[in-house]
Amino acid sequence: ITSAVIFDLDGVLTDTAEFHFIAWQAIANKLDITFDREDNEKLKGVDRENSLKYILSKGNLVVSTTEFEQLLKEKNDQYLTLIDEVNPSHLFDGVLNCFAVLKKSNVKIGLASASKNASLVITKLGIEHLFDFIGDAASVANSKPAPDIFLSVAHGLKVSPKNCIGVEDAVAGVSAIKSANMFAVGIGESQVLTQADLVFPSMSEFDFKRVETAFLLSAT
Ligand code: G6P
Ligand code: MG
Repeated sequence: ITSAVIFDLDGVLTDTAEFHFIAWQAIANKLDITFDREDNEKLKGVDRENSLKYILSKGNLVVSTTEFEQLLKEKNDQYLTLIDEVNPSHLFDGVLNCFAVLKKSNVKIGLASASKNASLVITKLGIEHLFDFIGDAASVANSKPAPDIFLSVAHGLKVSPKNCIGVEDAVAGVSAIKSANMFAVGIGESQVLTQADLVFPSMSEFDFKRVETAFLLSAT
């Protein structure tokens, strides 16, 4: 019954979640706002503007529109520098194997990232050709935890959301999958990704047979 598996990018297919963290931490430091991994957990899957809003409100800081735009640009410039060296060796273990299993099972593969840099990263990883549809973060109205990006990818793949499985490392992302009425696979810790239907510690442990079995059980 699985028609498609729709993947998040940062933190699921490659370790760019760490680069987002480093770049945000530099911005926070500069503004004298403390920003640790616990804060970062809340920003995973959250778009650029809302991430900066979170950091500013944590520091009770109000900035002008010009400054806000400047900070966004600074963060993204640093992020672009950090991802400059991304290459196919940066794909998480298990991803290519997982994609091969899905292709063999005639399951479509989609990408639902909140990042406006997603296409660039996918190209650098050398996996662009493996996707049946790549969602465009810039073209959806509401960002994660809203379901928009996952629904737009299901639409692009021409499959019904109820036959889709979403894969996410972020709390906001798992919420988005569940709001889209899809089966949610979390990559990370089950204590963190409490809304996920099934959690694997990493992509190398992703077991499509187990996912399908759990999915079938949940649908009955
Ligand atoms: C992903 C990451 C977030 C990031 C967002 C926007 O969802 O998990 O940490 O803030 O994309 O990325 P962008 O590249 O557009 O700034
Ligand atoms: Mg992510």
